[in-house]
Amino acid sequence: MKSHKVTMLGTGLIGYFYTRSLHEQRRPDRVHTVYSRNAQKAKQFAEHWGIPKHTSDMAAAINDPETDTVVIGLPNDLHLEAIRLAAAAGKAILCTKPLGRNAAEAKQMLDIVEKAGVFHGYLEDLAYTPKTLEALSKVQRGVVGRVLWVRSREAHPGPHSDWFWNFEQSGGGAMVDLGCHCVEIARNYIGKDVKPVEVMCWAATQVKPIEAEDNAIALVKYADGAIAQFEVSWCFRGGMDLRDEVSGTEGVIRLDHFMRTGFEIFTAVGEGDYVAEKAESTKGWLFPTADEVHSLGYNHMFTDMFDAMDHGKPPMETFYDGYVVNAILDACYKSAKSKRWEPVELVDWRGRTDITEPSVYVDYDDKHYLIKEEKMPDGKLKVILKEKASGKILQQVS
Ligand SMILES: NC(=O)c1ccc[n+]([C@@H]2O[C@H](COP(=O)([O-])OP(=O)(O)OC[C@H]3O[C@@H](n4cnc5c(N)ncnc54)[C@H](O)[C@@H]3O)[C@@H](O)[C@H]2O)c1
Repeated sequence: MKSHKVTMLGTGLIGYFYTRSLHEQRRPDRVHTVYSRNAQKAKQFAEHWGIPKHTSDMAAAINDPETDTVVIGLPNDLHLEAIRLAAAAGKAILCTKPLGRNAAEAKQMLDIVEKAGVFHGYLEDLAYTPKTLEALSKVQRGVVGRVLWVRSREAHPGPHSDWFWNFEQSGGGAMVDLGCHCVEIARNYIGKDVKPVEVMCWAATQVKPIEAEDNAIALVKYADGAIAQFEVSWCFRGGMDLRDEVSGTEGVIRLDHFMRTGFEIFTAVGEGDYVAEKAESTKGWLFPTADEVHSLGYNHMFTDMFDAMDHGKPPMETFYDGYVVNAILDACYKSAKSKRWEPVELVDWRGRTDITEPSVYVDYDDKHYLIKEEKMPDGKLKVILKEKASGKILQQVS
C-alpha cells in the first residue's frame, strides 16, 4: 500500500472533518501541508493535527513538491481556481461537494482535469456512509428488485459560515448545498448509467432574508421510469436529518444516518458543548453519533479515493459525477422558476442511451397478466389478474 501526502486547502468545517478522518485512525495517508488564508489559523490547525507544513499561500501549498494529492475544502466559488492550479501542478485532485456552482462551471473543472490527465475524485461523502454502501450492495444484488423510487432528505437549521448565504459565492441555497448529496445518493441506487431526463421542483425562501432558497422539494425522472425525490431545508429545527428510502418492485430499504441511529441520551446537566454536527442543544434528549466522521462516510470515501489512485482506476465518485449532479440541480432551479417539468441538459452524457421504461405487463399464464397476489386474513389466497384478450380485471380465490 502506498502512502499519500496531502495538501489540504481549507481549515473550516470540512477541512477539519477530512483531516480528522485521515489522522484520527492509523491510516497511511496524511495531510502534509495545510493552507488557510489566515496564517495563524493555518499554524493552529497544523499544530492540532500534527501536520508538518502550513501556509497562507494557496499556490505554494498546491505546488509543495512533497505532496501528491490536493484536497479542496474551500467555499464553492474557489473550487475552480484551486482545480486549475492543482491540475497545472499535475497532482491528484479530490474536491468537496458541490463540484461547481452550476453545470457550466463543473464542466470546466471536468475538462481541466481530463486535459491534464490527473486523477480526480468527487468527495461526496454521503454516497459512502456505511449504511449507504451496504444498502447499495443489496440494491445491486436485486434485494429490492427494480428500483422505482428513491427518497433522500437532508435538512438542518442552516450552514455555519457567511459565504454559504451569499449567492455569488455559494451558487444557490439549500438545493445546491444539500440537494447535491440527495441527487447523487439517488443516482447511485438508480444506476449511474441511467440518464436523468427531467425534473419538477418547488423551491422557496420561507424564513431567511437571502436571495437563494432555504427549502426545496424536487422530483428527478430517469430514463427507466424511476423517480428520485429530494427534500432539503436550511430551516429545519432540531439537528441534522439525513434519511433515505429506496423502493423497488420487490422491497424497500429505509436508512436514517444521523438523528435516529439507535443512540439516544437524556441528560439534565449536559455534557460538553458539542454533540454532533448541527445539533441544537446539549441538554435533554440528545442524538449523538458514535463516530461522526465514519457515520458520515468520510473514512470509506478516502479509502476508495486512495485505493483507486493506487490501482490506476477511477473512484466511485469522479468529477464527471459532480458535473451530472450540477446539471440536475440546474434543471431544478429552472423548474422552480418556470413551475414546469424541465429537461436535464447534459452536453456530455457518458451513460447508456438505449434504456426505456420497462413494460408493466407480467405474464401469469397464456391468457392473463398478473396484477397482484395477497394472502387474506382468512387464510385464502387472492390473485388479481388482467385478461389479455379483453382487458378485463378479475380475481381468483383459492
Ligand atoms: N459533507 C460534505 O461533504 C461537506 C460538509 C460541509 C462543507 N462542505 C463543502 O466544503 C467547502 C467548504 O465548506 P466549509 O463548511 O468547510 O466552510 P467553512 O466556512 O467552515 O470553511 C471554509 C474554509 O475556506 C476558507 N476561506 C473562506 N473564504 C476564503 C477566501 N475568500 N479565500 C481563501 N480561503 C477562504 C476559510 O478560511 C476556511 O478555511 C464547501 O464547498 C462546502 O460545500 C462539504
